[in-house]
Formats: sequence, structure tokens, C-alpha cells
Amino acid sequence: MEITLAIIKPDAYKNGDSGKIIDRIISEGFSINGMKQIHLSRKEAEGFYEVHRERPFFDELTSFMCSGECIVLSLERENAVLKWREVIGATNPEEAEQGTIRAQFGTNTGSNAVHGSDSSDNGRLESNYFFAQKDLI
Ligand code: CMP
Repeated sequence: MEITLAIIKPDAYKNGDSGKIIDRIISEGFSINGMKQIHLSRKEAEGFYEVHRERPFFDELTSFMCSGECIVLSLERENAVLKWREVIGATNPEEAEQGTIRAQFGTNTGSNAVHGSDSSDNGRLESNYFFAQKDLI
């Protein structure tokens, strides 16, 4: 079993898509080990996306992520990282395959509805960023 972190980003949250995305998570066979609604501070958003600090889109990304509420979910499943990345689709919703979450609910590379961890190690690290062990089932 593997852990991945999902975030329902402020655009999807604001558009009322959280319920549909959570339904999809369950129907794709993920166990939701932790879930909470949060409003990230600038510092928390910058900490989470620290690896992107030198990228030209860092300010845009972190401003967006603290612009409204999000839902963070620690998910468990066999091959959770790859499976979740398949389900969400390409970073740019315009390039995401039909039926993926980003194709369905995203708008552009910045407002792309959801986040997914990119490796097994990052799945654990990112889950630990938001959840203490005692908060996880
Ligand atoms: P996410 O999966 O959360 O991981 C990093 C995020 O950076 C990514 O989704 C995108 O939303 C964002 N991102 C990547 N490239 C760009 C870009 N060129 N402009 C704005 N945001 C970007």
C-alpha cells in the first residue's frame, strides 16, 4: 500500500466540485486516511511548494493556493501515486485526457482543480506536512 496526498484546490472548492471529486476518489478505490478543510497561510503554501521556489510561477502558485479554502486528503491504495496521477490527468487541463479530474474541473495550469504527489517519498512527506500520525486512520 502507498500513500499520496491530494488537494482539492481553491478553484474546485469555490466551484462546489469537492463532493464530486471525493466521490471519484472513493470510486477509484482509495482509502481516505485523513481529510480536512483548510485555508492555507502564505507561509504554509510557500512551505508546501518549496521545491518550486525558483520557478517563475512560484508567486502565482502560492498566491492562488492561499486565495481560498482547500481540502487536503491523505489517500492510501496500491500504487496510489501513479493511480491518482492517472485519475487527475495532465497539469494543464487543456492537455488532460477526457474523463480526468483536471479535464472535468480545471481551467488552466494554475487553476487546475487538484494536486497529486509525484513520488512515493513525496506522498509520505506531503501527507506528513498536513497530518500528524494521530490524525490518520
Ligand atoms: P500541482 O500538481 O499542485 O504542483 C505544482 C503546481 O504548479 C501545479 O500543480 C500547477 O498548478 C502549478 N504550475 C505549474 N506550472 C505552472 C505555470 N507555468 N504557471 C502557473 N502554475 C504552474
